[in-house]
Amino acid sequence: MKKIISVSMAIVMLLQVCIFAFAHFNAPALTKAEWDTLYNSLKDDNTLPMLCVGADETEVGLCWHADKETAVAQVRVADNADMNGAETFTGEKTDAENDEQVVCRVTVTGLKENSTYYYQWYSDNGWSKSCKYETKSFGDHKALVIGDIQIGGQTESTEVQSMNGYTWNSVLAEALSKNPDASFMLSAGDNTSTGQTAAEWQTLLMPEALRSLPLALAIGNHDKKGMMYNYYTNMPNEYFGKYFEGLDRDFWFRYGDVLYLVFDACSPSAADHMAMAKEAVEANPDAKWRIGVMHQALFGPGYSALDPETMILLNAVFSPIFDSFDVDLVLTGHSHLQGRSHFIWESSVVGKAESGKTYTDPRGTVYLNTNAICDQGSFSGSAQYMAYSFYDNDVTTYTTLEFEGDTLKIETKRGDNSELLDSLTLKKTKDFKDNGILQKLHRFVYKFVEFLGIVYQKIDNVVVAIRGGHF
Ligand SMILES: [Fe+2]
Repeated sequence: MKKIISVSMAIVMLLQVCIFAFAHFNAPALTKAEWDTLYNSLKDDNTLPMLCVGADETEVGLCWHADKETAVAQVRVADNADMNGAETFTGEKTDAENDEQVVCRVTVTGLKENSTYYYQWYSDNGWSKSCKYETKSFGDHKALVIGDIQIGGQTESTEVQSMNGYTWNSVLAEALSKNPDASFMLSAGDNTSTGQTAAEWQTLLMPEALRSLPLALAIGNHDKKGMMYNYYTNMPNEYFGKYFEGLDRDFWFRYGDVLYLVFDACSPSAADHMAMAKEAVEANPDAKWRIGVMHQALFGPGYSALDPETMILLNAVFSPIFDSFDVDLVLTGHSHLQGRSHFIWESSVVGKAESGKTYTDPRGTVYLNTNAICDQGSFSGSAQYMAYSFYDNDVTTYTTLEFEGDTLKIETKRGDNSELLDSLTLKKTKDFKDNGILQKLHRFVYKFVEFLGIVYQKIDNVVVAIRGGHF
């Protein structure tokens, strides 16, 4: 009877895959029973690939584990599912977290906009199945934002992992069914919960949607409890800095008119964060928009305002970077509460950013904090810098950033039915000038913060060693 039920479920899942193959994303919303079948068929492996954003819109990265004896770091790409005339891209093999495998990382280049591609990676069983990847517009574009996927619930329980994976898949299915034009997804960190097991990454990568949706994943304090992020991701322009240690790294990428700066805010190395931002901004002087991503909820809702580590230390490290490089929007997570700030400049509100309104050439930065995918928070109360807070936290949320011409439309929606919760439109008519007196002043004063950051890092190393890991 069990076999008959399993086969029936497999057929139902296959039919769903076929039906959704006609949509832009193959992102089926599975029932819990269907998800459990999928989860159980994949949970004892760790070789699912991650599709990652590239250095710009013409590239994507792949990362997967393979048997050391047979691994080939190659991906092939064609314009047809039969893979006729496929082009092969070769990458690198590096050590894995275990002795039996290696990590394969390949970057696919030369992609054209609004095109359909099929790709295969070289797996333990030879060339994988072919997966469809559709590029979108390379100018105007839409990015999805989520936070704290937090797979694992700080336990190795397969029930918890499967439940987390089911929730994650459900949000992906909902978000992608309503946003088939999304180019990629940003995560504000805490992608995993213990940061120490391959199983968390395998579960995170189970949703079929992720074969065709590139990810850009910031590092959170939970990812930092271990080193697994290092072996399961392939982010572009990774910046390992002068003082960064262990897992620490920032990265950046460019898509259309937008420069995305992704910080590892768990490292207090101010000198490295500033240097990364400077390098990225100088390499992209024509980018109309600059979007920051970091984990901790700087100017976030709820208890973030009371957290001295965030509002004193991280404020000192990151606010001058966002102020001096005219960053328009900063995406954060960590507090598991959805909320958005007014316009902030030098740590103060310099203008209202009311829900539903459009602001042209505003001064200051908007901070948007994401709810968690798994384990939503519960805290009410608000800081004066908040423009919007969502305290109905037993539901998931996701945010879209839609860049069109001179405007950026930011919309936050429920993760279960896409009901609009909050929106804000920014319009930009002036170019960023990186040589103003205020920019220079910020960076001069910042030398002192850089010094204190290094001192703090040394102290933090001792504290983390005593604690036995990051919180
Ligand atoms: Fe966190």
